[in-house]
Parts: sequence; structure tokens; C-alpha cells
Amino acid sequence: MLVFVPPHPLIKHWVSVLRNEQTPSPIFRNAMAELGRLLLYEASRDWLPTITGEIQSPMGIASVEFIDPREPVVVVPILRAGLALVEHASSILPAIKTYHLGVSRDEETLQPTVYLNKLPDNLPENSRVFVVDPMLATGGTIVAALDLIRNCGISSKQIKVISAVAAPPALQKLSENFPGLHVYTGIIDPTVNKKGFIIPGLGDAGDRCFG
Ligand code: PRP
Repeated sequence: MLVFVPPHPLIKHWVSVLRNEQTPSPIFRNAMAELGRLLLYEASRDWLPTITGEIQSPMGIASVEFIDPREPVVVVPILRAGLALVEHASSILPAIKTYHLGVSRDEETLQPTVYLNKLPDNLPENSRVFVVDPMLATGGTIVAALDLIRNCGISSKQIKVISAVAAPPALQKLSENFPGLHVYTGIIDPTVNKKGFIIPGLGDAGDRCFG
């Protein structure tokens, strides 16, 4: 497994806005969306197949390169907070399909429960899949989500996870269970407390996005 923290000043900026406890909900949500846009941009570099050809511009023949529409690109936001991080996906990735997963974590046991699964039975075998969840804390949620996606016929190498903040317990579980996976995150924080919150993190991302 590879973990990327893209060294971009705008990524640092939006993570800092998210960390601030004074940031009000609409601005928090907007910062999450901007961070998602940048992380998806970084994660799609060298990953989206293109087709080449020639086209007539107003001034002459030009060599061109477009994203290949025959290669499926899939985005799986994990509700609720993943909805904010994925907001700009459709404006930067041409022709994506979105399949929602709703997963909530029990406050006491920290075990995930899948309450909504809009994944198809099978995804095309050449799919590229972005799984979008802002917080990778104990890792229970993302592991449950990736297990469901693998059941659609997708291998870890076809998946990129996009998160705002990742913590060591989640990264450890991912590296043990999903060889070849790539994770793109805004920052890696040192620890998770007994209540399952990333420290220092940014609090409860779902509540801060949606109240
Ligand atoms: C939070 C967060 C992740 C999950 C991470 O979601 O958005 O999905 O917890 O925790 P884990 O790595 O320990 O499993 P939550 O269950 O609070 O749902 P929400 O997004 O609806 O608030």
C-alpha cells in the first residue's frame, strides 16, 4: 500500500481551515469540498487513461488527448461526511458514476454499520474506483466499505482512497488487508483517542458539515 500526502500549499490551507474549531459549518463544508477537489486532482494524475488523435482548431490541425470515455471511473462517497469531500468530483472527473455507501459508527463499540448500499452487484472489470471518506480513524468504516467494493469484482489495485485526515490505526488495517491500495490524504495525524476521534484531527466531520 502507498500513502500520499500531496505537498501542495492549498491542501495545507484547507486542512488548517478544517482544523479550526471556530470555522462555521458552511465554511467547513466548503473547505472540505475544496480539499476533495485538490486530492482528487492529485490522485487522478497518471491514473486516467487517455485517447489521442488530431483535431481541427480554428488555426490548424492539432494533436489532442482526451480522457478515454470507455474506461469507467467510479466514485464511492461514504455518507455522511464523504458527501462534502466528493462535492466537486463531477466537475473535475469527466463521466464518473457515483455509488453511495452509508456507514455509521457506533459511538460505544466503534463498530461500523452499513445502512445504505447503492453499489451494483458487479462493476466493470476495468473500473477505477475513488472511495471518499474524510476521516480514517480506527479504520473500521473504510475496511467495511472496501470489502463491499471488492465483492463487486474490484481488486485493491483498482482503488484509491481519498481522505482529509488519516490516523495510524486505519492505515495499519488498510495495509494489512488491501495490498496495492493507494491512499491520498490531506494529513496524517498521530493518534486516535478511546472514543475513536483522531487527535488533533478536526472533530466530528459529519456533524461539522451538516449540523
Ligand atoms: C465518521 C467518519 C468516518 C468514520 C471513521 O463517520 O466520517 O466515516 O467515522 O471512523 P473509523 O475509521 O473509526 O471507522 P460517522 O460514523 O461519524 O458518520 P457520519 O459521517 O454520518 O457523521
